[in-house]
Amino acid sequence: MTSHSAQPSLIGHPHFHYKNGVLHAEGVALDSLANQLGTPLYVYSRAALAQAWQSYRDAIGDRPVLICYGMKANSNLAVLKEFARLGSGFDIVSGGELKRVLAAGGDPAKVVFSGVGKQAWEMRAALEAGVKCFNVESEAELHRLSEVAQSMGQRASVSLRVNPDVDAQTHPYISTGLKENKFGIAIESALDAYRTAASLPGLDIVGVDCHIGSQLTDISPYFDALEKLLDLIQQLATVGITVQHLDLGGGLGIRYTDEVPPSPKALLDQVFERLQARGLGHLHLVLEPGRSLVGNAGVLLTTVQYLKHAPARNFAIVDAAMNDLLRPALYDAYHGVQPVSPHDGDTTQYDIVGPVCESADWLARQRPLALQAGDVLALESAGAYAMVMASNYNTRARAAEVMVDGDQHYIVRQRETLDDLLRGESTLP
Ligand code: LLP
Repeated sequence: MTSHSAQPSLIGHPHFHYKNGVLHAEGVALDSLANQLGTPLYVYSRAALAQAWQSYRDAIGDRPVLICYGMKANSNLAVLKEFARLGSGFDIVSGGELKRVLAAGGDPAKVVFSGVGKQAWEMRAALEAGVKCFNVESEAELHRLSEVAQSMGQRASVSLRVNPDVDAQTHPYISTGLKENKFGIAIESALDAYRTAASLPGLDIVGVDCHIGSQLTDISPYFDALEKLLDLIQQLATVGITVQHLDLGGGLGIRYTDEVPPSPKALLDQVFERLQARGLGHLHLVLEPGRSLVGNAGVLLTTVQYLKHAPARNFAIVDAAMNDLLRPALYDAYHGVQPVSPHDGDTTQYDIVGPVCESADWLARQRPLALQAGDVLALESAGAYAMVMASNYNTRARAAEVMVDGDQHYIVRQRETLDDLLRGESTLP
């Protein structure tokens, strides 16, 4: 986007841009879309999804890499369908996500099932569907999975998610590869856990897995983790346990403001170089990118309701809130703010806040903008961990979602109604 407000913006993002003074998603003017469908409104660009996918494809070339989209980032069926069409696999973390993959026509043979708390019914559903692999996170889970598989007369393919104890240098809430995190099996215990897995009748060992964190803007933690995993793979070989694939999880960051995240190519080139150097060039690689495939493919449109000039701060109170976009409240996250139809006027430093009764209900802070009530704003980089984390707090209906394709738009999720919110509740007689 071109910045009309001297704020950092998604420089170089071709799919959201100003034309005739109005912000567009591809060929669709966002002012008329907001008018027609109301706000808050999530708008995704199909071309942006395809471009993000292509940057992984180009980086892969003809090397043996399976991309399993970390669908927790954005699990709208239309988004999943796009990735399925492009040939993606999926990283799921629940029976619900499996249902979505199947509904979107995804290939279960390209699904990896991650997560620390898989229940027996979820294991059964995944075995019935025929997923590629379970990324197992504890010894207790190995036992349960073996029992479930055996009861179905099957063997489950497993990778152990190893916690390599590396610092991903990202926000503590989205860092997962440190000893104190709940995720994975500590690297020191991994060999024993693999021995357990090898001894269980319902399991087949196929891989080694890790995921060290999200929104990584420095590439080196991946290599710290990789070296530890390669040591483990060589150790396993000495006790007769061989694996076919190495899963490095997701985590590549995106630009929210002025970050310069590493590219898929930078990651893959170095990973394969190190595999070759260790004589492990035959290993297949699995990646589970979420944010980097969808984060910059979406914006959240919201309308300014009131301007309020308090003694210490200027507030723009908008119709989106922390229930629509939780990231600022939860992680102190930065999302760019762009007026959809910028107009002349003096700029003022505004805090963009919602109507929810919490001081944490803010979306952006101290942004220089020229605003009037009724203006529509676009919150940038709202394609990942945005709508999926929405809630109904304050009995607010969740936003609608739209996918733009060229000069067409498609409603890919209806706005929730207040009746939807009350459905299923009852009072005592
Ligand atoms: N694989 C596993 C096992 C994961 O736990 C995650 C994300 C991914 C893949 C995808 O990671 P990505 O490529 O998107 O970084 N809600 C937070 C992010 C939580 C990430 C959770 N795990 C946020 O809004 O920043």
